[in-house]
This record gives sequence, structure tokens and C-alpha cells, in this order.
Amino acid sequence: MCGIVAYVGNKQAYPIIIKGLKRLEYRGYDSAGVALLNGSLNVYKKQGKVSDLVSAVGENIEGTIGIGHTRWATHGEPNDRNAHPHFSPNGKLAIIHNGIIENYSVLKQELINKGYSFKSDTDTEVFITFIEDIRTNNDCSLETAVRLALNKVVGAYAIVIISEDHPDMLIAARKGSPLVIGLGKNEFFLASDATPIVEYTNEVVYLNDEEMAVIKGGKLSVRTITDVETTPYIQTLDIELEAIEKGGYEHFMLKEIFEQPRSVKDSMRGRVNADIGRVVLGGIREYKNKLFDADRIIIVACGTSWHAGLVAEYMFEEFCRIPIEIEYASEFRYRKPVINEGDVVFAISQSGETADTLAAIEMAKSKGATIFGVCNVVGSSISRLSHEGAYTHAGPEIGVASTKAFTAQLTVLSMIALMVAEQKGTISESRFRELLAELETIPAKIEEALKLNPQVKYIAGIFKNARNFLYLGRGYNFPVALEGALKLKEISYIHAEGYPAAEMKHGPIALIDEEMPVVFIATKDSSYDKIVSNIQEVKARKGRVIAVVSEGDDLISKIADYTIEVPVTDEALMPLVSVIPLQLLSYHIAVMRGCNVDQPRNLAKSVTVE
Ligand code: G6P
Repeated sequence: MCGIVAYVGNKQAYPIIIKGLKRLEYRGYDSAGVALLNGSLNVYKKQGKVSDLVSAVGENIEGTIGIGHTRWATHGEPNDRNAHPHFSPNGKLAIIHNGIIENYSVLKQELINKGYSFKSDTDTEVFITFIEDIRTNNDCSLETAVRLALNKVVGAYAIVIISEDHPDMLIAARKGSPLVIGLGKNEFFLASDATPIVEYTNEVVYLNDEEMAVIKGGKLSVRTITDVETTPYIQTLDIELEAIEKGGYEHFMLKEIFEQPRSVKDSMRGRVNADIGRVVLGGIREYKNKLFDADRIIIVACGTSWHAGLVAEYMFEEFCRIPIEIEYASEFRYRKPVINEGDVVFAISQSGETADTLAAIEMAKSKGATIFGVCNVVGSSISRLSHEGAYTHAGPEIGVASTKAFTAQLTVLSMIALMVAEQKGTISESRFRELLAELETIPAKIEEALKLNPQVKYIAGIFKNARNFLYLGRGYNFPVALEGALKLKEISYIHAEGYPAAEMKHGPIALIDEEMPVVFIATKDSSYDKIVSNIQEVKARKGRVIAVVSEGDDLISKIADYTIEVPVTDEALMPLVSVIPLQLLSYHIAVMRGCNVDQPRNLAKSVTVE
């Protein structure tokens, strides 16, 4: 949610910043801007994408130090005025900011009372004005003024500040919003995540909450905002450049859909051994017994990750016999949930930065629960706040609509459920081994399911102009119905609802007529006969049925208008396979409707505001 990039070194900063902003556009693309220092400090900004900024201001702006931003609007509508960077009133400082300053209106009023005026509607301009005010009144260094300001603001931030008076200095700080510093040779790269940095250096420092970094005269120093010096922990990145490029695909989303045989395999690598009947998750060690002895498990997540959590709920219930609840993080954190010390909380998050999920686990942790993170981004805030956890290892996901992260989450969650079930003795040895062996076949089955692409594209062509869609499933395929509907609405802007197939009779059935496409996820499982009846009910009302069925199903093909046959697997693992045609369906419909698949309107990949 908002991408920030900054550079200081010997190279020209502008091309590095622009390329970095393009890599971060998945975080927001309402407007873009840069500030470059070349004698004087100049800001260039524009509503729209990074490419709109480049078209407006050109390819060549000189300067070896600069900051850049791509915005997902929170305070103030997306326009040139509200785009970042924002100048301080005297024009000597500029700031880029990701996050929300919650007490900005109080600060703004105080500053207005002192005679300041504002050009934008943003909390960010208030922030930089506040810094200038502190500096003027206290006659202190810029570093001190920033630190004092950071102690007064409430909310979340990742910021970078550039100053006309200090041509070799950048000041950065974070709280609740990520910030990574890449260490090059006499140069530094700052960004919201490592993707803009990886092609220049693999040595990075992830700034911790309430830390402030000062890069000055080619040196990095880090202090807490309470002014205690800290030693930056240098990590080595293991992201390959090709993992963040499209690799010949038209869109990141399509690339990521087709990467799933590999990403699911990567999620399992070294962790599952069906031959000897073992699941080993290196990240769950010290707190293993907390998990085995849990009185209750609570899963918190948002969006697609919530759908993965719903599948996990069914798996934990079936295999581990532990009471379990899945919660929307945003609801959970503001209720008064009963959390006890024997509770285990799983936080599922691709980015590991989702503000609501982060706050939910902070709250649960403070009440004594043990937290396990299931995150994709290594070193992310949720993974660091968790007691332990397991990374999904799906590789960077750039398309805003989550695809490979979902199947990787399902893979990891099924491994955890099986590991717990085996330890607790709530699953028979033969069923345990059978499921492990089946899990190992999933990458090949996804590969098979991907071969359905031409057929799914054909079906997409038939339904691309529909105004509504209904997605129905039962049991393990109910979360898949939710996920299929979410994918379609996210990227094609067609209204779609996911529903439990039987629950349809209590409302959505009223919507069904000859115009309404109804996608059934109706693979052969314990509720197969029931869902066949539900398909009949829709057909009796002239609905147009697209059914995802198990290979070889010759019953539903006689009733449905279109059937898509996916490889057969165990009921509990079916979501890993049955979701594939739904991802492809939404992708093709969105492309046919001319939508921007990788950057759908109003959405952001990583929601770091609540
Ligand atoms: C945003 C993204 C979704 C994602 C959700 C949760 O809404 O657009 O694709 O599922 O956030 O994100 P997380 O990173 O916590 O999985």
C-alpha cells in the first residue's frame, strides 16, 4: 500500500527510482512522484501510473540522490496535488510516506494556528510541516527534528526524507509499514520491499519498527526513535531477478498461475517425505508443543488468505480434532474475543504486512496466545512478530490478485494439519501416509489442470459480458467458491458471489434466470450427490451452469452447460486443484473485457492501512 523507493550514491538516481517504482506499482498506482536533488531540490509528480509520470516529466532528470513514491490514496483523492513527495513549507525538505498518521488533524490544526498553510489534503504534508516547525523552533539538526516528530505522531509510517541542505543524506524511519535498505558499494537503495533492490545488491537491512536510519556521507547508522543506537542486521536476499519479471507472459497474474506446479513443490521441498511418513517444518520447533497441546486454534487473515484459512479450518477439524475458528482479522481485533494462554493463533498473510492481521496477532499475543505465522514474504512484519511459523516459499507474487500464494498457503497449512494430527494420534497411520503421498502428487495435478487453459478461455469468451456470477461449492470446495468469486470481481469488475451450494436456496436462488452464470465446484467428494441436486435446482430455473468436476464424471456433464474436468485427488486437497480453472476463468474474462489484470482499480497488493 504505497510504494517507496530512494537512492543515494554515484549513479543517476532517477532511472533507478523509476524502475523501482514500476516494480512496486502493485502496492498502489493512483499517482507517482519523485524528488531529485541536483543543487536545488525539485519535485515532479503526476496522477496516474509511473509511466504517466515519465511521459509528463521525461526520461532524464539529473541527480545522484532522490526519493520516489507510487500512491494508494488514503487521505485526499488521487490527483497531482496529493501525490507524493511533499515539500515542507520552506521547500528545503521533501518526504515520501507509506501509512497513515492518525493524529494528523490535531497536528494540522495546531500548525494552522501557528500560521502554516497546506497545499494538499494529505497527512504526509502535515508530517513534513511538523518536522520543519520543530526544527525551526528548537534550532536542532534535521535528524533530531525528525526523531522528535516521530515521537509525537500516532499511526503507521515508512518515510524517507531528503533535504536540500544535506546533499548526501537520506533519513528513513518505519513503524508498521515495511522498509528495506539495500547496501551497495558506496550506494544505498531504500524501498518498501526488496524487489526494486534485488538487481543491484543482495545485502539488505530490514528496518525494525520505531527505528530511524540516517544515511550520510556514505555511511548508514540506525537508532531507535528513543535515540538508542542499534546495530543493523545485514541479511542476504535469495530472490532471483527473473522471479520478479514477467518471463514472456503477458501478465504477472498469468505467469503466477502457471508457476503453481513449481511454487507448490517449493512449499513442500524438504518438508514432506511420504516414503518414511514424515512432515518436518523447520520453523516450528520450540513452540511445537504449544501447537500439539492447543485448547483451541484461531486463524486470522484477510482476503484470499482468509479463504485459505477457511480450508485450514476444515482440515484441522477433520484431522486434528481441535476446536478451531477462522476470523477476519479486521473484525476479530475490534471485538472482545476471549483469548486464553492455551490458544494458538495462526496468522496467514502473503505479504506479512497486512495491518489488520498484524494488529490482530499483536492483540492475541498480548493476551498470552502463541502465534504462528504463515507468510510468503521472508522477514515481513507478521513473520517477525509471530513466535514461530512456516514460510510458504511461493516466491514473489506481483499480480494484485493472489494466485500462487493461495495454493502455497494451502500446501503449508495441510502439512501443519497433518503434522499435528500425526503427533496427536487423531489420524490413522495409513490415512496420514495416504495424504502425504497425495500431497506429493499435487504439483503434477496442477500441471494437468493448467492444460485446461484453452477450454477455460473458450468458456470465458461466452460469459465475458455477464453482469453477475454465482459461485457455489460445498465442504472443502466452499472456500474455493468464495475464492473464485473474489478473483472475478477483483480483476474483471463483474459482480460475483460465492456461496455454500445448499445455502443458495435461502436467497441467491432468487437471482437465477437464463442470464445468470452459476459456477459449481462439484468434484467427487462426500457431498457430491447433494451438489448434483443443487445443480438440478439451478437448471430447473434456467441458470447457465459451468461445473468444475472430477475427471471422468459423466453425470454432471449431462446436466451442466459446460463442464471442466480436473484431476482427481483427496477431498481435503481438492482446493489446490479445483481453484486452478477459476483463476484462469477470471484472468481470461478480465483480459477480454480490457481490464488491467495486474493492477485492478482501487486495489493494492499489500494493505498496510486498516
Ligand atoms: C489485499 C490483496 C489480496 C490479499 C489480501 C490479504 O486485499 O489485494 O490479494 O489476499 O490483501 O493480503 P495478505 O498479504 O495478508 O495475504
